[in-house]
Amino acid sequence: MKKVRVAIVGMGIGRPNGLALAGNPRAEVVALCDLVEERMRDFASLLPQPDEIRLYTDFDELCRSREIDAVFIGTPNQLHVPMGLKAVAQDKHVLITKPLADSVDAARRMADTAESAGVVNMMSLATRFSAEVRYMGALARRGAFGDIYYARARSIRRNGIPSWNTGFIREGGGAFRDMGVHVLDAAWWMLGMPKPLSVTGAAGAKFGPRGLGYFGKRAPGEVAATPESYYSQFAADDYAGGFIRFEGGSALQVESFWASHQPGDLQIELFGDEAGAQLRPPTVYTNGPIPAAVAETAEAFGAKPAAEPALEDGGGPLDITFEGLTEERSATWDSIAAHFVACILDGVACKAPLRHGLIVQEMMEGLLRSAENGREQRLDG
Ligand SMILES: NC(=O)c1ccc[n+]([C@@H]2O[C@H](COP(=O)([O-])OP(=O)(O)OC[C@H]3O[C@@H](n4cnc5c(N)ncnc54)[C@H](O)[C@@H]3O)[C@@H](O)[C@H]2O)c1
Repeated sequence: MKKVRVAIVGMGIGRPNGLALAGNPRAEVVALCDLVEERMRDFASLLPQPDEIRLYTDFDELCRSREIDAVFIGTPNQLHVPMGLKAVAQDKHVLITKPLADSVDAARRMADTAESAGVVNMMSLATRFSAEVRYMGALARRGAFGDIYYARARSIRRNGIPSWNTGFIREGGGAFRDMGVHVLDAAWWMLGMPKPLSVTGAAGAKFGPRGLGYFGKRAPGEVAATPESYYSQFAADDYAGGFIRFEGGSALQVESFWASHQPGDLQIELFGDEAGAQLRPPTVYTNGPIPAAVAETAEAFGAKPAAEPALEDGGGPLDITFEGLTEERSATWDSIAAHFVACILDGVACKAPLRHGLIVQEMMEGLLRSAENGREQRLDG
């Protein structure tokens, strides 16, 4: 059986993606790349036949290898596109972590170039590929909610500024490009990927520059001469929120907080004219009866409505929750790996091409630009 020979680049998020690809019967991890050899050796020890895996500290050298068919790119945001362009120039298929880039121009160049090269090009999106999002999206596609005219999406941490990696924050972005991107992408996908027309936003750094809200706090002396010079590196947004209008009249309110005085939360809510939904725990809200699509779709996902809801005479509020819809995070990475492999070996149409990453980047950068200049940004011009 032909197997896709994959290289994993970046030993942070590369680890779960690499494990999933290595666990796929139609793929094998043949190479790793990182600046830190120790991180590669450590990860290689978890993979089958570690002694046969090539370790590269030089990405250009990796790209020249004819023994590699596909590359997973999991380096800091600002490197996704420079590396992706080199990989597709050598005819490698690419699977890129979120966000696609650190700017719209870079994201567009990447999507255009990958499409012209004719390689499989895909975003690795842990939220979009999760069981709950795929299920709610399937219900939406089957019309269970009617016309979805509004959605809310939020990703909130109490103390979650990633203080272990100031380079990532300085050069590649803040809370919105790090985690807002997940709920923005998933909500937009559940809405049916409408064309964004305009966006307005607010953003700022309320905790990081004061030395607060760090996740995995480090002694400031370890990474900077003084606490102040350490804290000053956290100037990127630690919160961002905004409002996006789409063609056809629907709209999305989206928020992300790396740190806040609020309970942690990740939630997406859909408002349809036939029924509504929330992601966590997965629930459909209707005035009854149970939309046919709920029962029809549930079986395919191994989900079942949790309780037999009672309907008042003539209808009434009905909350339908589900059992069996949550999955281990590793199962989500497996789904991403399986789809990437199927796109390469079976020619399956990619459900998460880089072009989607580009459109999400346009909404994201528009929101951050609006926060900076205080004006709504057009996205359709
Ligand atoms: N759920 C998710 O999908 C998810 C979760 C975490 C991070 N990410 C994304 O993954 C990316 C990396 O974040 P992370 O948390 O894994 O960071 P990380 O710092 O843990 O890992 C990044 C790795 O890239 C390596 N690297 C940096 N420059 C390199 C180069 N020129 N050549 C080779 N290797 C190089 C670093 O040595 C490091 O080991 C970010 O874009 C982030 O948004 C996605």
